[in-house]
Amino acid sequence: MLGSGQLSMSGGWTAYLCLASALTGLFGPAVAVKEHDFKKCDQAGFCKRNRAFADHVVANTAWESPYNILADSASFKDGQLQATILKTVNDAGETVRLPITVSFLESGTARVTVDEEKRQKGEIELRGDSKARKQRYNEAEQWVIVGGLTLDKEAKVDYQDDTQITVQYGPESKFEASIKFAPFSIDFKRDGDTHIKLNDKGLLNMEHWRPRIDASPAPEKQEGEDNSSSETESAETTAAQVPEAYPGEDQNTWWEESFGGNTDSKPRGPESVALDISFVGYDHIYGIPSHTGPLSLRQTRGGEGNFQEPYRMYNADVFEYILDSPMTLYGSIPFLQAHRKDSSVGIFWLNAAETWVDITKEKESKNPLALGIGSKTSTSTHWISEAGLLDVFVFLGPTPQDLIRKYSELTGTTAMPQEFSLGYHQCRWNYVSDEDVKDVDRKMDKFNIPYDVIWLDIEYTDDKKYFTWDGHSFADPIGMGKQLESHGRQLVAIIDPHIKNVDGYKVSEELKSQKFAVNNKDGEIFEGWCWPGSSHWVDAFNAAARKWWATLFKYARFEGSMRNTWIWNDMNEPSVFNGPETTMPKDNLHYGNWEHRDIHNLNGLTFHNATFEALKSREAGEFRRPFVLTRSFFAGSQRLGAMWTGDNQAAWDHLEGSIPMVLSQNIAGFPFSGADVGGFFGNPEKELLTRWYQAGAFYPFFRAHAHIDSRRREPYLAGEPYTTIIAAALRLRYSLLPSWYTAFRQAYLTNEPVIKPMFYTHPNEEAGFAIDDQFFVGNTGLLAKPVTQKDKETVDIWIPDNEVYYDYFTYDIIPSNKGKTVTLDAPLSKIPLLMQGGHIFARRDRPRRSSTLMKWDDYTLVVTVGKDGKTAEGDLYVDDGDSYEFEKGQYIYRKFILDGDAKTISSVDGEDRKKVKEGDWMKKMHQVTVDKIIIVGAPASWDKQEVTVESEGETWTATLEYTPAGKGRAAFAVVKKVGARIGADWKVSFA
Ligand code: NOJ
Repeated sequence: MLGSGQLSMSGGWTAYLCLASALTGLFGPAVAVKEHDFKKCDQAGFCKRNRAFADHVVANTAWESPYNILADSASFKDGQLQATILKTVNDAGETVRLPITVSFLESGTARVTVDEEKRQKGEIELRGDSKARKQRYNEAEQWVIVGGLTLDKEAKVDYQDDTQITVQYGPESKFEASIKFAPFSIDFKRDGDTHIKLNDKGLLNMEHWRPRIDASPAPEKQEGEDNSSSETESAETTAAQVPEAYPGEDQNTWWEESFGGNTDSKPRGPESVALDISFVGYDHIYGIPSHTGPLSLRQTRGGEGNFQEPYRMYNADVFEYILDSPMTLYGSIPFLQAHRKDSSVGIFWLNAAETWVDITKEKESKNPLALGIGSKTSTSTHWISEAGLLDVFVFLGPTPQDLIRKYSELTGTTAMPQEFSLGYHQCRWNYVSDEDVKDVDRKMDKFNIPYDVIWLDIEYTDDKKYFTWDGHSFADPIGMGKQLESHGRQLVAIIDPHIKNVDGYKVSEELKSQKFAVNNKDGEIFEGWCWPGSSHWVDAFNAAARKWWATLFKYARFEGSMRNTWIWNDMNEPSVFNGPETTMPKDNLHYGNWEHRDIHNLNGLTFHNATFEALKSREAGEFRRPFVLTRSFFAGSQRLGAMWTGDNQAAWDHLEGSIPMVLSQNIAGFPFSGADVGGFFGNPEKELLTRWYQAGAFYPFFRAHAHIDSRRREPYLAGEPYTTIIAAALRLRYSLLPSWYTAFRQAYLTNEPVIKPMFYTHPNEEAGFAIDDQFFVGNTGLLAKPVTQKDKETVDIWIPDNEVYYDYFTYDIIPSNKGKTVTLDAPLSKIPLLMQGGHIFARRDRPRRSSTLMKWDDYTLVVTVGKDGKTAEGDLYVDDGDSYEFEKGQYIYRKFILDGDAKTISSVDGEDRKKVKEGDWMKKMHQVTVDKIIIVGAPASWDKQEVTVESEGETWTATLEYTPAGKGRAAFAVVKKVGARIGADWKVSFA
């Protein structure tokens, strides 16, 4: 089975897919991915070779890494070390030169880059008539890195002789890199302790270029032979075995490799890069999404509770993916964080080729170095990429916040989203006509269910020709768009990267005539299969192709699209139904003659980027924030939009599994993430659907979606009590939108996660390091733990600190309980949600149909008094939610402060900034006020009838209703009709 879900196409393929489709429809979701459609490590030649190499090294204590820095090649200048590593290739002493650069950056980040001289100079021969580039791929940086590369000229060499060089760098020179020459290794220290070691285990392996030596005669090839482990050479010749680098080295996959009936011609031969990176004294490792499984990553070399396979990153359309697995999924971010009490460090492996990561942990006894510096366990990782440079960034923390900040200085922060996109998205494959869309829109209103966006999957097109409409079922897209517009609602239409290969389709003709498509290994346009049948793929690596792509989105060209039409980029791994592992052949050629192998994991990002740029230029003078959802992604994709976790299933364990997945995205610098609410495949029972909405209301990206064969499940169809409960979850999301938007503003500034796991907010509480089913929302102090199990009416929530916590809905007090687990009632109608004391967060409480219609509504502030009974703080960010005017200062950013001694709550400008001339939006915001302040845990002395409000030179009174504490419930006070402007300074006095 190939592809994501299925729909009819022509020919035999159609029959195959239709049958599978029908079966899925009849029996509900199949249980698992066809695992054999995807490689295991020993079916990917380079992974198998590097694992075998690691086994050999580990088994041979006398092993010494054959990589040595040539002492007299090392020079250090302006924060950068340059040198040459000599790799000794065989007993005869033959060597290969590998230029290395170690850069110390102003941010305190270090970068180690290793290339191969022969390939760098293009002095290699390609096999066959290949037109592939002769270098190692060195352009990942152009797509991924947007800043933070300024060298730290203050970095200084502390010690140097013929055997090593030690460099001090970073803030107050607290960081140190000790680079040993022979064998080459680097130890990274902070405050004198070693935290990260490169090549400590000697697993560095850069497979150098070598000519293929032919041997003859060739063995007869067996019919249907398919193997990655056995030789699959062409009929005429076969490669000779050359001396092994270590006993048993497997050379069978050096020159050609087959899998699933596809042969990879590998014109450059073997070229993998691998390195061991050890985290000394760290036993929790997070990151490298997207995978299912726990947030704290498992070991991968077998043993109880561990995986057998390395975590894999090779973006793929993994049909019906399984849970708790290191298998690859649709996107990858090779950013990994190690954490222990009091310290976080991390690395970013900048390589766009297929990559595997083995993780092993060692107990203290084997690792005396870990003694006395925290955890008793150390973790080693083994990074294995098929091609490209060795390019690794090293972050020395010390906090999880530092890691994300430094990583995001390099790769960028989250784009400031369209405000509507934080609302609820109603999607399915497919709304079948414009009338259907209009009907769903009306019904949502009829049932008072808020939503912002309705989505169109591939069936809206004329025969899967993107930028067209099916003239029969979508005869009036403008009429449809206008109805949505009249309620402040949006439409998202899908546009995929495969372009139907058919005459008379202008997009296809232009793609071909201008040569903007990806080519096959022979340099001819690549043809493969996807939804439209025979297709070609836009090559978004080509600037001219991107320019052309942008023209397709102009309103005049994409007829039927409007200002409230936005885009969904799916299948951009890319998914190729008849390709190896459902993607492109690795020897396909992209712009600049880079092989697909070189850039695979970047492919999704480049297409997403092309669409993002296109939406910025739909009409002259229109400069609005794009909204583009992507399925495939890489480091840096956070700058472009949202992602979702792909084709999950309508099953309880998929609901449960979605939370660590979304948390992993959040801590890996791409927080705008969510899972298909309800589950893509199958039909959720109503309880599951309801619980999924309750969880989805806490995904940063909140969209319900369903497979074409699933039954309709719009919230109003659920029936009572479900519809009412779902609507309440949606309203909760909508009322908290001001706080979600404020959290996104923080993500825009520093790439803070929008939802935060316990290790991130409480980095010193070891008991929380493995918890991945509860999280905080932004800086609100809201602690959510969605119910993810059937028939569950209580949840156990872990309390990370000694603050007081209040139940969000009842104000019941959860007294100081640090480190304890508290059981909360969670009947179906309730989302377990606590408020940590000490915060002030904003809501808009008036129920409306969409976020756009809430734009000018007044605010409610919720104050949760801290355990000291008198302090709380919070913030609010507001802008027009649509344009880039915020970049020119057109926004409001307030800080709210409760001062219990002075008995005041005040609002002050949250930033020290110049006054700007107010634009239209700012002027209109003058009407918007704080309507209500709810003080949960209000001291008894606030039992007054009135409060004084002072703002903008005036003073007035407002009424206060005080409710004394009840059984287990906190006292609370509500100040009504406060009337102070949200954008102005004000003070409410309770004395
Ligand atoms: C695969 C996507 O993952 C899914 O969400 C979508 O509905 C189908 N493609 C059809 O476009």
